[in-house]
Amino acid sequence: MFSINDFIPSFYSNTLESGQFQWTAPSNIALVKYWGKKENQIPANPSVSFTLNNCMTNTKVAFTKIQKQDNFSFDLLFEGKPKEEFKPKIQKFLERIEVYLPFLKEYHFTIDTENTFPHSSGIASSASGMAALAMNLMSLEKALRPEMTEDYFYQKASFLARLGSGSACRSVKGQVVVWGHQANILGSTDLYGVEYPYTIHDNFNHFQDTILLVDKGEKQVSSTLGHDLMHNHPYAEQRFAQAHDNLDKLRAIFENGNLDEFIKVVESEALTLHAMMMTSMPYFILMKPNTLQIINAIWKYRSETQIPVCFTLDAGANVHVLYPNSVKDKVLQFIQDELVGYCQNAQYICDQIGIGAMQL
Ligand code: DP6
Repeated sequence: MFSINDFIPSFYSNTLESGQFQWTAPSNIALVKYWGKKENQIPANPSVSFTLNNCMTNTKVAFTKIQKQDNFSFDLLFEGKPKEEFKPKIQKFLERIEVYLPFLKEYHFTIDTENTFPHSSGIASSASGMAALAMNLMSLEKALRPEMTEDYFYQKASFLARLGSGSACRSVKGQVVVWGHQANILGSTDLYGVEYPYTIHDNFNHFQDTILLVDKGEKQVSSTLGHDLMHNHPYAEQRFAQAHDNLDKLRAIFENGNLDEFIKVVESEALTLHAMMMTSMPYFILMKPNTLQIINAIWKYRSETQIPVCFTLDAGANVHVLYPNSVKDKVLQFIQDELVGYCQNAQYICDQIGIGAMQL
């Protein structure tokens, strides 16, 4: 396991004048949710997620050596065009990671990024976006220090991504990723995401996630503000303890493949996340009427057919419909027949469990 000090480099054995890297990194969907954090992006509780396969951010970073400056020098392009609105977030990210990548002010960067999912679909691109950027910066660091191990490369990439957006650290490597220290998961740490280290039953192979786009509008409350409201939240301690328990339950479920138990943990986590929002001060509701319509339709379908399909939610109104690959055709038919009507412009995205970031 690495500590923070391991990520502060003491020397570089190489120099590099200019070059370019390109990485694609996925979004992820949490089963046990990260909601609440301490200083420096340390999570209040451990979380676990499925890595996605189709909702990706592709980011190209071109760099040229310059005289070391007082400020970061970078251009930010979105789909090939300058995007000033995105710059402050990147600026803040670079400030946070400079101590770990001391060469950052010695280069001019052109960061060109695009998502594979529709813009303003309500799908947050912060996880995939920060992960893709972190991978590129690690490629540059590896070029400066080629002796770096693969393990170090990926764990530091996840560590850096976390400083951009917490959930981004779960978008680097592995199909199932744990972030946050949990007593019974070996190697789990608050500093970066790790591949889930134990057996995963075949029931979860190619697990499906169909994302129903209920509301594509901008979030009324940012995740960052939501996390903040867990400070002094009346139910915070219970909630954080519950996340540890749910991870224990999932460990048994991943091993024995019990989908009924899986559904209980996952749906309870989703509703607890939103319950935390509804019981914070100020309180807020991110679900929309159609979110509830979909949840009820899934429950009805499940009880009528015994097909193990369930839902989870992010910090928004969209619904992630989760189900095993073996029932894919039936569930897709159900979605088309009964759920598409609740989606904005009938839009949904078919995704499934993926393996993590890839260099292009
Ligand atoms: C509800 O990772 O977006 O999706 O660390 O402030 O960038 P910041 O928050 P973010 O929070 C994600 C919260 C969540 C649950 C989860 O993905 O675990």
